[in-house]
Amino acid sequence: MFETLESKPADPLLAIIGLFAADKRDQKMDLGVGVFRDDSGATPVMQAVKDAERLLVETQQSKAYVGLSGDLEFVESLFELSFGANVGLRERTLGVQTPGGSAALRLAADFIAHTNPDTTVWVGTPTWDNHAPVLAAAGLATQNYVYFSVADQVLDFAAMDTALSGAAAGDVVLLQGCCHNPTGSDLSVAQWQRVAEICNEKHLVPFVDVAYHGLGSGLDTDLVGVRALLEQVPEAIVTVSCSKNFGLYRERTGGLFVVCKTAAMSRVAQSNVLSIARASYSMPPDHGAAIVKTILHDNALTRKWQDELNSMQQRMQSIREQLARALGNNQGGIAHQKGMFSTLNLTPVQITILREEHAIYMAGSGRINIAGFREADVDRFAAIVGPLL
Ligand code: LMR
Repeated sequence: MFETLESKPADPLLAIIGLFAADKRDQKMDLGVGVFRDDSGATPVMQAVKDAERLLVETQQSKAYVGLSGDLEFVESLFELSFGANVGLRERTLGVQTPGGSAALRLAADFIAHTNPDTTVWVGTPTWDNHAPVLAAAGLATQNYVYFSVADQVLDFAAMDTALSGAAAGDVVLLQGCCHNPTGSDLSVAQWQRVAEICNEKHLVPFVDVAYHGLGSGLDTDLVGVRALLEQVPEAIVTVSCSKNFGLYRERTGGLFVVCKTAAMSRVAQSNVLSIARASYSMPPDHGAAIVKTILHDNALTRKWQDELNSMQQRMQSIREQLARALGNNQGGIAHQKGMFSTLNLTPVQITILREEHAIYMAGSGRINIAGFREADVDRFAAIVGPLL
């Protein structure tokens, strides 16, 4: 049966990992895949994570199955971290642990397709390269709305407002909670409120991908807009990833939250979500969630983690400011964009030349991982790339 298969191209973003590793040039710069790096280019395990792992080795009694929803204490902690201690919201929200943010997105997409197969998911452009494939894999139809103009480096909220105002009742709107991937440009709180208004007027369901909480302006402020949205709408879907803010990438740690109109509806929805999960990965892996729970249940570990997260955020902010200064011209926006990514107005040919001639690796869209810069790289990058912008 396999002789009819044709090769698929490698995922272009993940392919950068292999290309970069094979490059022997000393001055190579990895601005590709979105992982945090320190100034030496390493992605260390956070100290709070190491401490939690030590505790787990000593205290964990069993590796028996936890259950379809995963670790319920982890789910509670992740809800509170993301949305605050909001009892009213919690009552009508189902929460399940998932194998990372990607599986949360896929589970959400499968749940949407199962609930309303005729819906259209509205996807901003540009967005994370894997959003469209995940939605397509679930069989969902999509339409694009313009989110950001890379050429002008501005968020085009007027275009977004117009597009969403034309969506049909029951459609879903994919949004990013903070640190927009790939542009670093987030909605203001007023814009989140306007999105909530449109969703209410047009009967649309917001679907928010939260993958970088704490890496924009900090844990307290990054999700203020998302929380404002959730105060206003009757239904919503939110996926949360712990890959970046806990540095748990390979541990596949995340959650899916679905806000329903009533607590009773959320219980019915939960049974549907869990039956989809059961037919897919069955149960999520425990280790990353156990680490997050251990950290968030221990005040000293929580403080340690927050300090580390703050210094990661500050390093990226400082690189943003250095880069904006070094690039000069019209690139000042980079200093104000948030999180790991900005997208530069470069052509595919320029991006290939940067890789082949200068050992500068970035996504094919012109997206750069701000955390991939060593401070010493900034001036060289600006000298080579600045004239192209
Ligand atoms: C990224 O956007 O670089 C990361 O989220 C890694 C991935 O899975 O694409």
